[in-house]
Amino acid sequence: GLAGIPPAKNHFGSQLGEENFPISQSEHVESTLSITVVGASGDLAKKKIFPALFALYYEDCLPKNFVVFGYARSKMTSEELRNMISKTLTCRIDKSANCKDKMDQFLKRCFYHSGQYDSEEHFSELDCKLKEKEVGKLSNRLFYLSIPPNIFVDVVRCASLRASSANGWTRVIVEKPFGRDSESSGELTRCLKQYLAEEQIFRIDHYLGKELVENLSVLRFSNLVFEPLWCRNYIRNVQLIFSEDFGTEGRGGYFNNYGIIRDIMQNHLLQILALFAMETPVSLDAEDIRNEKVKVLRSMRPLQLEDVVVGQYKGHSKGGKSYPAYIDDPTVPQDSLTPTFAAAALFINNARWDGVPFLMKAGKALHTKRAEIRVQFRHVPGNLYKRNFGTDLDKATNELVLRVQPDEAIYLKINNKVPGLGMRLDRSDLNLLYRARYTREIPDAYERLLLDAIEGERRLFIRSDELVAAWDLFTPLLNELEERKIAPELYPYGSRGPVGAHYLAAKHNVRWG
Ligand code: NDP
Ligand code: BG6
Repeated sequence: GLAGIPPAKNHFGSQLGEENFPISQSEHVESTLSITVVGASGDLAKKKIFPALFALYYEDCLPKNFVVFGYARSKMTSEELRNMISKTLTCRIDKSANCKDKMDQFLKRCFYHSGQYDSEEHFSELDCKLKEKEVGKLSNRLFYLSIPPNIFVDVVRCASLRASSANGWTRVIVEKPFGRDSESSGELTRCLKQYLAEEQIFRIDHYLGKELVENLSVLRFSNLVFEPLWCRNYIRNVQLIFSEDFGTEGRGGYFNNYGIIRDIMQNHLLQILALFAMETPVSLDAEDIRNEKVKVLRSMRPLQLEDVVVGQYKGHSKGGKSYPAYIDDPTVPQDSLTPTFAAAALFINNARWDGVPFLMKAGKALHTKRAEIRVQFRHVPGNLYKRNFGTDLDKATNELVLRVQPDEAIYLKINNKVPGLGMRLDRSDLNLLYRARYTREIPDAYERLLLDAIEGERRLFIRSDELVAAWDLFTPLLNELEERKIAPELYPYGSRGPVGAHYLAAKHNVRWG
């Protein structure tokens, strides 16, 4: 593996993708890894990136020589950055042991440089500071762009021209949104590729770093009992559900320009769908997996208006407490038509999935917080126990649920006999509840993704052709929604969302799980 990183951490034993030099050369040479968090003063950096870096340090996953730099316009000293991030570092792994010491050691490796995002000069200054900290012959540099998308290209230009590594690799992690339709996304890719090669760009979709999403392929391909059923002959429908029990609080400015379809469906849910539905890849190599995902996306029919229901939450009071409408957010215009909820029916036109509805549902300010994949199986043909189910045979079909969050679980709904002398049937769950089975806390998605980017493992990052295919599916619909000014169906904050979602499902003979 890379110098200083235990090889065991490369989970698949695949070769580390070293674009600039062969592994054999880098292996025994002392090197430094620097991680520059661009937009270090922001919300994501504080909430996710610094804590994930600390967790990796705590677990000894970072190389021996590493430094973390925060970069943003805000004026701050390194000491102030340390103060700021120390408030959000937690020891999820081992609360008792040497956490405080580890934190202090980690913070000593954190520095800050204040600069403009479009200033080559300021990135040259950063380069000097990085050089001061770099020891050994090789320096590898990772830039994490935790900034609004309109400044991605400026930063990439300045960083690649003035602060890329002279002798090791330079990689850039880009946060979504990657454009807002096919055209703007294509433009962003073209601009980034003026300065970076595709292998240097790590487009993050943090849902791919979630434990249960990673486990999807393990479940399918390492158990005999699932894969043979994974097709139109046995699966009636698949549901991909994302719901949050809070609104766009604090992020209305960003959200209003995107809406839930771009924020959640086009990326997080579609990525899960592609992994779910892909053919068996040739190997676990990133390119093999991503090739299969692209095939799925390209086999899908672009969404049409009749396949979709959009909603927006309205104000609501319950138990003496009042909940705001989406348009109560001061950064959101009063006449906004931006959907905060959407449900959609998608189809994959290939031999495996022909005719099987893949239903997506994503919403903010709903009654519950959860992300799930639900697989509803067909009826048992000529079921001997038909009459024991009463009239609702639909309720008796098997269902496999992967609960991505919260409270990770995989369970299979089965029918069994109620113990006793009579013959009554009951529905029960074969349940793998993670917290009951595993005592170790599950790492945050950002930890896995950062580690993968450091190791050069691209499996969980979005390749540019995947991105093109994903936008091609949603762009015509998004344009039509905007051009025809389709009004979202209002639903009360904290409710189950607009009833239209049920009609859409019913049209495809589906009942939401
Ligand atoms: P912020 O809005 O907090 O921005 C990060 C930093 O960028 C700010 O601290 C600010 O630093 C600088 N910045 C903000 N607005 C501008 C502007 N208009 N022009 C120049 N600089 C600006 O973003 P987040 O931290 O919330 O998110 C970062 C990225 O990650 C975004 O692309 C976002 O879409 C994405 N993302 C965020 C998630 C979240 O939960 N927050 C989840 C998923 C993705 P300074 O003023 O000091 O330069
Ligand atoms: C982000 C979206 O990508 O994912 C947010 O921009 C959303 O709107 C978030 O809240 C959900 O992520 P998680 O990991 O908290 O489910």
